[in-house]
Amino acid sequence: MLAAGIRRVVIGLADPNPRVRGGGARYLKRKGLTVVSGVLEPECRELNRFFLKWITTGRPYAILKLAASLDGKTATRTGDSQWISGETSRRRVHRLRAEVDAVMVGRGTIEADDPGLDSRPAASKVRQPRPVVVDTKLQTPPTARIFGRRGAGHPIIAGATDAPDHRRRALERAGAEVLTLPAGPDGRVDLDALWDELGRREITSVLIEGGAELAGSAALAGLVDEVVLFAAPKLIGGARAPGLLGGAGIARLADHLPLRIIQSRRMGDDLMIVARPVGGEA
Ligand SMILES: NC(=O)c1ccc[n+]([C@@H]2O[C@H](COP(=O)([O-])OP(=O)(O)OC[C@H]3O[C@@H](n4cnc5c(N)ncnc54)[C@H](OP(=O)(O)O)[C@@H]3O)[C@@H](O)[C@H]2O)c1
Repeated sequence: MLAAGIRRVVIGLADPNPRVRGGGARYLKRKGLTVVSGVLEPECRELNRFFLKWITTGRPYAILKLAASLDGKTATRTGDSQWISGETSRRRVHRLRAEVDAVMVGRGTIEADDPGLDSRPAASKVRQPRPVVVDTKLQTPPTARIFGRRGAGHPIIAGATDAPDHRRRALERAGAEVLTLPAGPDGRVDLDALWDELGRREITSVLIEGGAELAGSAALAGLVDEVVLFAAPKLIGGARAPGLLGGAGIARLADHLPLRIIQSRRMGDDLMIVARPVGGEA
């Protein structure tokens, strides 16, 4: 930088990494350069929110993606679900996948849809996220589509420590990294522990793509940093048709998770709403 004749440096945001804090700016000042800090800091914070969350907590920034009809249904009572959101929304989801380090689903989604979880078009230039499946007993079939993807890292299958050993070996042979964690209080994968493990693997961001059980657990465990909802102008109805969040939910309204809407915009015929937990905004 000095050799190139640069005399003035503008810093948007100081790196909160304790190992580098302020070192670069001090060095440049000592060398006689003019250093201006904090320019467009909120915008820089927004752009770097994945890294900032990870470097300060050791855990990935989690985006919960939801897609539903205007009455909050994700499928009809017979399970017909493709497609509720429109093409523009689905393209946006593929872009989101290319922006994050990992895409997470529950075992139920693998069983129901066998999704590839890749970012299309799968041109070599597109960054592919690592698939992560929460699957207590390691029941994901080694033939699942997530194993056949080019350009993505090994899928991570997160199970419990007492999952059968032969399933672990079969998944490893198929190319998975199998994480076994002590089960949480509900006997399923402890998401808190999983978030720490993902952070250790330098996964700074994860897109939670469903289904409702996983979405409900992650949201109510306070692990979600951002919700992206695609609301399609359709009415489906049916008391038994599934909704966005599964699990037990909360009993008292006072215990709800408060969110602040930070963006809402049209996505083709759909509406995309981005919201973040109150107090947790980047
Ligand atoms: N509209 C959308 O955007 C969308 C997106 C994705 C999926 N879907 C639909 O959602 C349906 C599947 O949803 P689902 O709710 O049945 O399944 P899911 O959320 O994909 O998977 C739930 C399963 O994950 C395992 N799991 C392990 N640890 C967990 C934890 N801590 N919390 C929650 N789950 C944990 C559990 O099985 P084990 O106990 O065996 O581990 C649980 O039954 C499919 O029909 C799919 O088409 C819709």
